[in-house]
Amino acid sequence: MSSVILASASTDLARRVRLASGDNLFVLAPEQVPTGPAQLLGLSNGTGPVQAVMLDVTGEGSPDGSLGLAERFQEQFPHIAVLLVTDRPNELGLSALRAGVRDLVEPGLPIDEIRWVLLRAIEANSAATADGQKATPEASGRVITVASPKGGVGKTTLATNLAVGLAQESPNGTVLVDLDIQFGDVAAALDLDPEYTLADAVHGAGLRDVTGLKTLLTKHRTGLHVLCGVKSPVEGDEITAEHVNTILGLLISEFRYVVIDTAPGMGPHTLAALDHTTDLVLTASLDVPSVRGLRKEMELLDELELPPATRHVAVNMVDRGGGLSLADVEATIGRKVDFAIPRSSKVMASTNRGRPILEDRGRDKVSKDLEQLVSRFRPTTVRKSGLSWSSRHRGAAS
Ligand SMILES: Nc1ncnc2c1ncn2[C@@H]1O[C@H](COP(=O)(O)OP(=O)(O)OP(=O)(O)O)[C@@H](O)[C@H]1O
Ligand SMILES: [Mg+2]
Repeated sequence: MSSVILASASTDLARRVRLASGDNLFVLAPEQVPTGPAQLLGLSNGTGPVQAVMLDVTGEGSPDGSLGLAERFQEQFPHIAVLLVTDRPNELGLSALRAGVRDLVEPGLPIDEIRWVLLRAIEANSAATADGQKATPEASGRVITVASPKGGVGKTTLATNLAVGLAQESPNGTVLVDLDIQFGDVAAALDLDPEYTLADAVHGAGLRDVTGLKTLLTKHRTGLHVLCGVKSPVEGDEITAEHVNTILGLLISEFRYVVIDTAPGMGPHTLAALDHTTDLVLTASLDVPSVRGLRKEMELLDELELPPATRHVAVNMVDRGGGLSLADVEATIGRKVDFAIPRSSKVMASTNRGRPILEDRGRDKVSKDLEQLVSRFRPTTVRKSGLSWSSRHRGAAS
């Protein structure tokens, strides 16, 4: 069986769960449990891939902290089954179900029954996550990098709309990083006045742990978290690819969606981001230099030994005026165009106002096309809920 995390003060329960899980167990006291799933998984690092988390709320105390954690697991790591150990199944059943708890476990359960309950929960969870999203880290944590060979083609526009769109589904699970190190303008595109920027993140607490780094993020009005770019190009000089590597590693451990805006071309910071990227949105505008650049960039990417990322081609500022068609683009790059975003004065107005188009869910074409881009990354999960109280008296909760 894969690893199990148990949060409980009971050494007897820990002994039984250890035997039930074939010694693949990480135990911690309830008061040591962090509020974030990623931090909890970080603590158990080294015990192998975690498939189940058991939270013991036996007794009279409030289960709210554990239910909140279960909810965040469901949102950020849906492939991990959360079970609640409780002697109050009738009282807690409904709120546990709502929080995404997979099963309730009676505290005195014998070893063989615990084993069975764990296997059943893990199995049911995989089946449910397989319905709408793959039970892999790829599904639960996506790192989406928006890049282009040429400047001014709409990277920031796409990255900010993508991030705002994903934040509507997962406000606390989405972070946008401005990796246009010298001339980043994500803050302006979102009308943010950040207290801290990437320049602060490469000093002190920012690089040590994700808790420190999170204090340097700016919260957008949609709930989206943003690591804003430096305020002057000079500040960008001290940011290295290694810094980028560390920062992204920390953010990935905490956020379900990490969206990255980049500078034009394939500079060292963008290459560092590509090492973490699960989805690369390659952007070009509908003109010959941009499309040629895109083809060269794709050839370069083929030559580089980078971790595999799914490529999505987005052609922006599509209109009929320039004499180039999407079919011409496809013939030049030798693959299909995934997204075509029309040229629209609404986009420029939204940039100037600092309010991404998708904040207002319009019915016009450009809003719909941007929404389609977001849906590519948004899982459509149909959760099969199956909650029962696993005890010697099965059915007692019903
Ligand atoms: N579909 C569109 N229709 C009309 N204008 C657009 C469209 N997409 C982007 N723009 C405008 O083009 C300008 C450049 O866009 P954006 O800043 O997103 O490009 P970029 O690739 O990030 O540029 P840079 O390489 O300089 O960072 C902005 O003023 C933006 O409003
Ligand atoms: Mg930009």
